Amino acid sequence: MQIIHPISGMQRTADALRASGRRIGFVPTMGYLHEGHASLIRHARKQSNEVIVSIFVNPAQFGPGEDYQAYPRDLDRDLRLIRETGGDIVFIPSAEEMYPPGFATSVHVEGLTEGLCGASRPGHFRGVTTVVAKLLTAVKPHLAVFGQKDAQQALVIRRMVRDLNLDAEVLIAPTVREPDGLAMSSRNIYLSPEERIEAGGLYQALRLARKMVQAGEREAPKIIQKMRDLLSERPSARIDYISIVDTQGLKPMDRLTGEVLVAVAVRFGRARLIDNVILNL
Ligand code: PAF
Repeated sequence: MQIIHPISGMQRTADALRASGRRIGFVPTMGYLHEGHASLIRHARKQSNEVIVSIFVNPAQFGPGEDYQAYPRDLDRDLRLIRETGGDIVFIPSAEEMYPPGFATSVHVEGLTEGLCGASRPGHFRGVTTVVAKLLTAVKPHLAVFGQKDAQQALVIRRMVRDLNLDAEVLIAPTVREPDGLAMSSRNIYLSPEERIEAGGLYQALRLARKMVQAGEREAPKIIQKMRDLLSERPSARIDYISIVDTQGLKPMDRLTGEVLVAVAVRFGRARLIDNVILNL
């Protein structure tokens, strides 16, 4: 497995791979990898000959007072997981090279970034799209894989790729869950044992929404209220949002029709966790 730090080195390697007809699959990450990332790597593997994983904790997507400094890091463990899962190249750029002095350019997707996490984390998606655009121009993949857990991020990136004619296919891979349904996330490490138990409520709330829809409920406020009631029974839960939106524009819906995204963001202690399900009506 090859490790590449300089952006120019990554670009040269990507050019050589493309020239020799290799199909490049890419999994961008912020490290502290878990089974969810392993699954993204396996998805990339299935559809490409060469799998490149990037590790970069992107300062631009953390707001003031968020957990950029505290974000968990363990490079040795990450490299082991990538090697064992079948990654071929690990791209680890430095913050100095990604954001040199005088850096003044950003990529912003309007509309889709306004609600859900965009409302509570101003500037977050601008940071994400900017870094992903930079990573795509460094890695030059044919295919880039993102997780469904970060549904808004995946849709925003897909829109950016389309709008800017970036030459990469965006694949969205299913969320990987713990046995109690909690979505795997690097931030789960922040949970105390009690919070970890209560965090299982996130998926229970989403399952409740699915059950209500299956039973014929179509009024979003009623579903959201029941989800809120369920989460409020967990003393450590602080709800950031519970939203039901359409999957095209991510606009809140009152009455459910078509394909809808039920999305939640809840704080348990230091951890702000997000999760979602897509329902087809
Ligand atoms: O999902 C993540 O880990 C990050 O937002 C990403 C896509 C690697 C950009 O920093």
